[in-house]
Amino acid sequence: MTVRINPSILSADFVNMQTAVEAIATADAVHVDVMDNHFVPNLTFGPEMVRRVQAVSPVPLDVHLMITDVDRWAPGYAELGAFSVTFHAEATDDPVGLARLLRSIGSRAGLAVKPGTPIEPYLELLPEFDQLLVMTVEPGFGGQSFMTEVLPKVSAVRSVADTAGLDIWVQVDGGVAIDTIAQAAEAGADTFVAGSSVFGAADPGLAIAGLRAAAAT
Ligand code: DX5
Ligand code: ZN
Repeated sequence: MTVRINPSILSADFVNMQTAVEAIATADAVHVDVMDNHFVPNLTFGPEMVRRVQAVSPVPLDVHLMITDVDRWAPGYAELGAFSVTFHAEATDDPVGLARLLRSIGSRAGLAVKPGTPIEPYLELLPEFDQLLVMTVEPGFGGQSFMTEVLPKVSAVRSVADTAGLDIWVQVDGGVAIDTIAQAAEAGADTFVAGSSVFGAADPGLAIAGLRAAAAT
């Protein structure tokens, strides 16, 4: 199985973002958490910051939008060159229309679900997406504990994708660390977002290698 490790710069030093992304050059992508203080009770940054991170990052950008007005804002992240743009199922009435627009701009389209959101209504939409993000914490903050109870959703997505022969990446985000990543991998995740366990480590590169190894066992 391919294992992808996407460190989240939510846990990096916001005044030293260039140094932060340079420290994770061995990652598969940099996970960029955009929050608007409406969809989640926290506020991070917007397109101009993401454009600058994109300009200096050695790895592609995996943008995770935790915002309400995705129809207005999501296309701009695809236009600035983000490798993938993931929006929340809870934030739009037309996930398929937005996914098609993102793909037409040239970005991978991702759909995210909060821990309390059932996955069943979205399983039939999987062919419209390149990746599915199952939140393993309540979105909004780094450093929370991994919620094992959402892993059946990961397994459900993996099973539908495999049965249908879909090449969709299954991502988990929140509380991913050396002691939790194997369960997520076993449930069927192949793409792992890790904030505090990478940027909180003395050596982010070593932390990435450790997560990669733990996911593969
Ligand atoms: C939470 C964000 C995550 C967060 C993960 O709302 O979507 O990407 O940075 O942080 P950790 O890995 O510390 O749980
Ligand atoms: Zn995230």
